[in-house]
Amino acid sequence: MSEYFATVARGLEAVAARELQALGARNVMPEFTGVAFAGDRALLYRVNLWARIPFRILLILGHCRCRNAEELYTGVQTIDWSAYLRPEQTLAVRATGKNAQLNHTHYTALQIKNAIVDQQRQTMGRRSSVDTQQPDVSINVHVRGDRATISLDSTGESLHRRGYRPAVGTAPLKETLAAALLDLAEWTPDLPLFDPMCGSGTFLLEAALKALNIAPGVFRDRFAFEQWSDFDPDLWNHLRNQAVDEQRSHLLHPIIGSDRDATVLEEARTNLFYGDLVHQIPLSQQDLATVEPPSAPGILVCNPPYGDRLGDVEALQEFYKLMGDVFKQRFKGWVAFVLSGNPTLTKHIGLRPSKRMIVHNGSIECRWLRYELF
Ligand SMILES: C[S@@+](CC[C@H](N)C(=O)[O-])C[C@H]1O[C@@H](n2cnc3c(N)ncnc32)[C@H](O)[C@@H]1O
Repeated sequence: MSEYFATVARGLEAVAARELQALGARNVMPEFTGVAFAGDRALLYRVNLWARIPFRILLILGHCRCRNAEELYTGVQTIDWSAYLRPEQTLAVRATGKNAQLNHTHYTALQIKNAIVDQQRQTMGRRSSVDTQQPDVSINVHVRGDRATISLDSTGESLHRRGYRPAVGTAPLKETLAAALLDLAEWTPDLPLFDPMCGSGTFLLEAALKALNIAPGVFRDRFAFEQWSDFDPDLWNHLRNQAVDEQRSHLLHPIIGSDRDATVLEEARTNLFYGDLVHQIPLSQQDLATVEPPSAPGILVCNPPYGDRLGDVEALQEFYKLMGDVFKQRFKGWVAFVLSGNPTLTKHIGLRPSKRMIVHNGSIECRWLRYELF
């Protein structure tokens, strides 16, 4: 069994831990902005292919003391890098965290890179070159106090880049956050889902992938672990083929979106087209003021403008009031969720949330608010 660490957005640790557990991870432990877990190589591939919430999955190689640069250098050299990196492969080192002596991540990364390539030169007479853009092997080091954790990044480009979304709208949600919010809303594919401010369609796409049992990783053409010396192509192809075989072709319950802006709806259509979902998810151009429930009661999710990225806070107060009125008067029997990045605006909804969950949308601390509409 190996030790892994899934990096996640702040606030999503517990929901990501549940997802990893469901995928078969062992010893699952939520930590700050990540989840530690254990498992075999098949689990690593399965998590990269199927997990909807993490950004990347790290394979932990070891820990060392790092009170200063020399200690870190020595600690990194205790690992036999020939098992992970051949001289003809390129490398990149990413450092996070700091302590009193190692307080610049670039400097920390440089120490680690030097320790690795010096070992290669000493043992093999040749060294890897650095490629920060598309490295063959990406090494991750996290400094916390006087302890460093050294890992290999098994993912490469962040998992939120599913590969199905060429159009990104005006203020899109990350796919990983949208997937987590759907889980936190306890939406399941047997419930209708409606997003009346769908923008480029992130909630709709993530919900549809889940409902059709489509692994989010099947759209990607590359994972970092494919460059590793222990890469098992048969196992990987088996897991990918199995994922494709297990897909469902049709939604059994409606997933529907609308937005007032024709341009973003066109982007949502482009994304649905790439995800091969354009014929299954109805989209309509509608202002919230005229929206009616498009199906039997289900879950309404939305990510309205906050005022700091789109529009102006004062003008938005009326809009938030309208949202509350529309929910209350027309959506009886539904449960509505609003991603709120601005508590002042949220008060204008005028309804009492039955649950408030703290999540981070990039650097903005938000609340995922649940409203029961009787
Ligand atoms: C923050 S964006 C949503 C982004 C979306 N979640 C995504 O991932 O692309 C807010 C959306 O609300 C829409 N919107 C703003 N005012 C609206 C109104 N009165 N009626 C309907 N949609 C509105 C905007 O056009 C915009 O697409």
